[in-house]
Amino acid sequence: MNICLIGYMGSGKSTLGRKLGKETGRSFLDFDAYIEEREGKTIPEIFKGKGEIYFRKIEADYLDTMLLAHKDAIIALGGGTPCYGNNMQRLKQEGIKTVYLNVPVATLTKRLWKERAQRPVLNDQDTLEKLEEFIRKHLFERSFYYNQADERISVKDQSERELIDDLKARLF
Ligand code: S3P
Repeated sequence: MNICLIGYMGSGKSTLGRKLGKETGRSFLDFDAYIEEREGKTIPEIFKGKGEIYFRKIEADYLDTMLLAHKDAIIALGGGTPCYGNNMQRLKQEGIKTVYLNVPVATLTKRLWKERAQRPVLNDQDTLEKLEEFIRKHLFERSFYYNQADERISVKDQSERELIDDLKARLF
């Protein structure tokens, strides 16, 4: 069974996924890193050179390739992955369990303000207020897809330990 962590940028998919992989002895895959490795470019370079439409196309293609090549992995998907094309339908197929990490807008804003240079989708948000407003609307649009996950975790003030234990209890 592949376990796919989904949720907005900055929701902790990679951090939690990596730790969960270590603790359960399963391999961990970061889907952004998977794309970067195969394209020989970083995500910001891909967006800059070929644009978002190209990125969404290869993202869908690589999603298929990756899911076919791995059967028992913990996978942190990109924040937009479930929200384009028929990727969410693809993620509902047999042998895949999806988990949505639902993090409040204020927490996402705080985390992403520092990391926005690596997120081309957030490039135009040059003040904290603009970033927060953008995330609020964007997350609202994307929630339609995220909420279709098999499991939904509301991240509030749990420690990382508590979140990992919650994931383990739900998944294994
Ligand atoms: C994106 C999220 C990023 C990356 C790309 C687009 C998005 O992944 O795939 O920058 O549209 O939300 P992370 O959620 O791992 O930052």
